[in-house]
Amino acid sequence: MPAILPSPLLQLLFLLAFSSSPAISDSEIVLESGYTVSTVLDCNKPLAVAGLPSSAAVNPFSILPRPRSRDLLLLDSSGSAFYSLAIPLSQDGDVRLFSGKGFPGFADGDPTDAMFKNPRSFAIDSKENIYVADRSNYAIRKISRSGMTTTIAGGYSKKTGHIDGPAQNASFSNDFELVYVPNICALMISDRGTRLIRQMDLKPEDCAHESQTGLGVTSVSVIAILCALCGIVLGFIARPFFTRNTGSLRQPLYQQDMETLPNQSEDTSSDGLLRHKKRSC
Ligand SMILES: *[C@@H]1O[C@H](CO)[C@@H](O)[C@H](O)[C@H]1NC(C)=O
Repeated sequence: MPAILPSPLLQLLFLLAFSSSPAISDSEIVLESGYTVSTVLDCNKPLAVAGLPSSAAVNPFSILPRPRSRDLLLLDSSGSAFYSLAIPLSQDGDVRLFSGKGFPGFADGDPTDAMFKNPRSFAIDSKENIYVADRSNYAIRKISRSGMTTTIAGGYSKKTGHIDGPAQNASFSNDFELVYVPNICALMISDRGTRLIRQMDLKPEDCAHESQTGLGVTSVSVIAILCALCGIVLGFIARPFFTRNTGSLRQPLYQQDMETLPNQSEDTSSDGLLRHKKRSC
């Protein structure tokens, strides 16, 4: 018995190690063709950046589109700066320093004054406010559409932690990311360092474009279309009625009634009853 026991175990190990793994990878990869990849900006080469005196070393970390401004926002996490890239991107295209200085710090204000410290991620709301997970400042920063930077969370605490409550007193770990969730007008924070998912409600005016103005425009246009359709339908229904009452048709109808009345005496009583019944209907 002890001599037989290792062989099924070995067989199982052999199966797991060799036979099963190629079978899984073969069956799970589906090669769908029809897509193309091309390099549109090589940040290893010298890059002319508007707003910076010499060619800057830009380290692309993450990119998001700014839907209203028709450009992309590039986060350089190690350089603690944001760049705007005009669409379509090209090596000698329009690259601008958007906010930050290219080195870490903590300062609010104009794009030329604002400083960040290794931002990990950023999100853009429907009004194009930018929310920055300013990782090494343990804070959430906001860059308004005008370019003004403010600190909206973690401004008082300035240290790692997991405190909830009023945002300026809240604390975050040194490894968190955020995403904008338009339908609840909030930022969802995936705080990796503390393994917490946290929510920060935004002000209604931050989401006004989508929750109010956007919906308002659609509902107004829907109402306008419905009104127009109702008008057309009512117009078609009412048209014969109007032509009959206002036109020459009304007079003959009245005359017809008057003409039938004198004949009533000559009719038999049963005919008269029938006519009365018809009239009451
Ligand atoms: C938030 O922090 C400030 C500054 O430390 C303090 O004055 C204030 O009482 C705190 N608020 C709360 C709700 O903890």
